[in-house]
Amino acid sequence: MEPTPLVRPRSFVVRGRKTEAQTRAIDELWPSFGLEFTGEPLDLDAAFGRRAPRVVEIGFGNGENLLTLAERHPDRDFVGIEVHGAGIGRVLGAMRDRGLTNIRIVRHDAVEVFETGLRPGSIDEILIFFPDPWPKARHHRRRLVQPEFGRLLVRAIAPTGVLRLATDWEPYAEHMIEVLDAEPGLANAAGADRFVPRPEDRPVTKFERRGERLGHAIFDLEYRPRT
Ligand SMILES: C[S@@+](CC[C@H](N)C(=O)[O-])C[C@H]1O[C@@H](n2cnc3c(N)ncnc32)[C@H](O)[C@@H]1O
Repeated sequence: MEPTPLVRPRSFVVRGRKTEAQTRAIDELWPSFGLEFTGEPLDLDAAFGRRAPRVVEIGFGNGENLLTLAERHPDRDFVGIEVHGAGIGRVLGAMRDRGLTNIRIVRHDAVEVFETGLRPGSIDEILIFFPDPWPKARHHRRRLVQPEFGRLLVRAIAPTGVLRLATDWEPYAEHMIEVLDAEPGLANAAGADRFVPRPEDRPVTKFERRGERLGHAIFDLEYRPRT
């Protein structure tokens, strides 16, 4: 057996170039809607200037889901965590075009943000949609959903909160259910070892469309904190 490396491998590879418009959107709008992560807990009350139900989306990609939900729910605040600059530029530009003010963006590894950046019990909903599946066995450790990360999710989520995930990669879906069903702080809303039906109100994203084009089934998971 190979020795376990001491350094946690990242769940992402930063790739892709920003368009000029995306670069401009970041230059202009990051000061208003970007949150600098310093390792300290983020002051979300101050960032949003109000106290509203709080949703965190991890790995929002080009932001289709984040933007649709923020527009649909002006009474909720959304924190998007992503490392992909082009997607961040796209979301900021779309926020301006659609007049949205209830999104803040953290450009950092979500694992580290969950380690120290979120106060315990402060998040009402956590969304992880179509995370990178890392299909090769030697890359499985790069998958975002791991037992240690499950514990961090439990720490951040409010007692009445919900964790939702989706993937089109069946082996990752099975891995997710194995890891999260085994987390003592979480209860599978569908019952042990089961998926929930696709929520009708979950917006379709690029990666879901891609999965469907490839003939993949889509798996949705939902967990609530165990009280
Ligand atoms: C396969 S894409 C899915 C994007 C989007 N959720 C969708 O459904 O279209 C996964 C995204 O997660 C981001 N990501 C992966 N690991 C991350 C991490 N640890 N922190 C922040 N973003 C991450 C990647 O940059 C990428 O944009």
